[in-house]
Amino acid sequence: MDARSTRILGSADVADAARILREGGTVVFPTETVYGLGARADRVESVEAIFRAKGRPADNPLIVHVADAAAISDAIAEVGEVARVLFERFSPGPLTVILPRGAAVPDAVTAGLDTVGLRIPDHPVARALLAAAGVPVAAPSANRSGRPSPTDLQSAREHMEGRVDAILDGGACARGLESTVVRVSGEGVEVLREGAISREEIAAVVATADPRGDFARAAPGTRHPHYRPKAQLRVHDRDALDALISGLGQDERALILGGTSVDDPRIVVLESVGVYAREFYRLLHRFDREGVKVIHCERPPEAGIGRALRDRLRRAAGGI
Ligand code: TXA
Ligand code: MG
Repeated sequence: MDARSTRILGSADVADAARILREGGTVVFPTETVYGLGARADRVESVEAIFRAKGRPADNPLIVHVADAAAISDAIAEVGEVARVLFERFSPGPLTVILPRGAAVPDAVTAGLDTVGLRIPDHPVARALLAAAGVPVAAPSANRSGRPSPTDLQSAREHMEGRVDAILDGGACARGLESTVVRVSGEGVEVLREGAISREEIAAVVATADPRGDFARAAPGTRHPHYRPKAQLRVHDRDALDALISGLGQDERALILGGTSVDDPRIVVLESVGVYAREFYRLLHRFDREGVKVIHCERPPEAGIGRALRDRLRRAAGGI
């Protein structure tokens, strides 16, 4: 891919970023989950530029981001009752709904599937950008393929400077893990990717299928390596982690859940599972900058946001 000069923009430059998007360029922008790498979803050349910048396999479809519910009907064939309930309850917010696609969405976005993922992000800069652009924006997470997603400007620059037309700063992402991806099937939904909205929250409004269903087959992205730092990552139950912490090497780090901080820079204490989720990718980027060799992580409980975090930990540790 050609090296290009990347403009670094702030929230006062949203109109410039929107113009770059409208003209077919690539813009990295903040969302409440992670930074996205956006381009016009309705132009094949723009969508292809996303795949090039990321080094992403062409069989992995992109999520289309829109400013509000009114813009959804252009992208999909029909909004059924289940989707309407989901968008009403969770949008704007970190939920992606997979629906039958409309004619305006090119094959390049959906990797040839007959469905498209739609999301209305809940971040003031993202919302202003999408509203000003006035076009649907395809956007995967703004990491180089296979790596952890960027959740602040510094890591977004590390991944994408020189590869995109602009990077728009929106500070640190409030959620820190990607959106939950659900596919509407019949009267309910299947969760294809655990994410920032918990399965429990979704189950409170619509029926959800068994979590251990055909997960890997359903979301093409889940077949590829993902979220991997340069360091080796290992996941432990708390007892095992406590036992190895006293022998931690200089180039090792530990992430543990608990209330009180420890007077050792190699040990990071996360006060809750929510904070663990929010800080996880940011810490992986920091440890890679520090040249850390091994990251030991506490396995969080399998409930709420803990499910999404367990999924990311497993993949970051080398599982597919
Ligand atoms: O929070 C997020 O969702 C971020 C921000 C930027 O919005 N985006 C993001 O995109 O995480 P990406 O491309 O890194 O992950 C999208 C996931 C992939 O696993 C992909 O396979 C799946 O969603 N996906 C997209 N379209 C799909 C479709 N039509 N059917 C099934 N899975 C789909
Ligand atoms: Mg991604």
